[in-house]
Amino acid sequence: MRSRRSFFTSPLTVGLGAQQNGDAKVMIEVRGLSKSYGDYQAVEDISFTAGKGEIVGFLGPNGAGKTTTIRMLATYLPPTAGSATVAGFNVVTQADEVRKRIGYLPENPPLYGEMKVVEYLTFIAEIKGVVRSRIAARVEEVMEQCFVADVRNKLCNHLSRGYRQRVGLAQAIMNDPEVIILDEPTSGLDPKQIIEIRKLIKSLGERHTVLLSTHILPEVAMVCDKVVIVNRGHVVVEGPLSQVSRDKSLEQVFLESVSQDGPIVTAA
Ligand SMILES: Nc1ncnc2c1ncn2[C@@H]1O[C@H](COP(=O)(O)OP(=O)(O)O)[C@@H](O)[C@H]1O
Ligand SMILES: [Mg+2]
Repeated sequence: MRSRRSFFTSPLTVGLGAQQNGDAKVMIEVRGLSKSYGDYQAVEDISFTAGKGEIVGFLGPNGAGKTTTIRMLATYLPPTAGSATVAGFNVVTQADEVRKRIGYLPENPPLYGEMKVVEYLTFIAEIKGVVRSRIAARVEEVMEQCFVADVRNKLCNHLSRGYRQRVGLAQAIMNDPEVIILDEPTSGLDPKQIIEIRKLIKSLGERHTVLLSTHILPEVAMVCDKVVIVNRGHVVVEGPLSQVSRDKSLEQVFLESVSQDGPIVTAA
């Protein structure tokens, strides 16, 4: 079991204090969430919120606990302690309600290799309960929105990484979920694909709450309203991007907060 360092337990609060989300409805609320794998504490006492219509950047170095946290929020991994709600529903006791309201893109998109893109997305629309008469039109809509219409007749197995990510995003938004959770959606993409995905995420943020896990700082600066930085299983920074990077660049804040002696900043 990893020992807790004192700076993890005494965060410095700066910024907007209790007005964290203004009047915005809280769509993701994480309270003291922890997860251990055997003796290894991967996530320890994580708390943060995401408001309606916010794009929240969930930042941290490799191994910080981003995927573990996200999988708990997406109801695929039971927490060892703490609780979380998504769209007001508990991720453990109301997992079915949560799943109806989220779009989740895991690190590796869950595609069926032997299906064509259009077949796969039609199948997803069916299992996500899109009204039968709307399925064909909805599949066309998300293919356009995610720039995958040109590969509609390709087998998922034959897609490049960039297209796999975009088809993964298309399945995540199929039922127009209130909350979209994306685990490093731009990893492994080329610069042009990254720009396209960022634009798409930005546009999704106009109508949805988005939790975007990444370790690419410029991405956060470009698309996010709010930042949560995790390091070694703990939240070390939380706040609106404008507050967190008011006096320093996000890069500086990140490097200081993930270094052993860095400060904890809760620009809440
Ligand atoms: N199934 C698992 N069993 C044991 N350790 C795991 C497992 N999954 C992740 N870990 C460990 O938990 C820590 C956090 O991992 P992860 O949540 O994947 O971090 P991130 O997504 O930020 O890179 C890492 O040290 C990782 O090696
Ligand atoms: Mg990860």
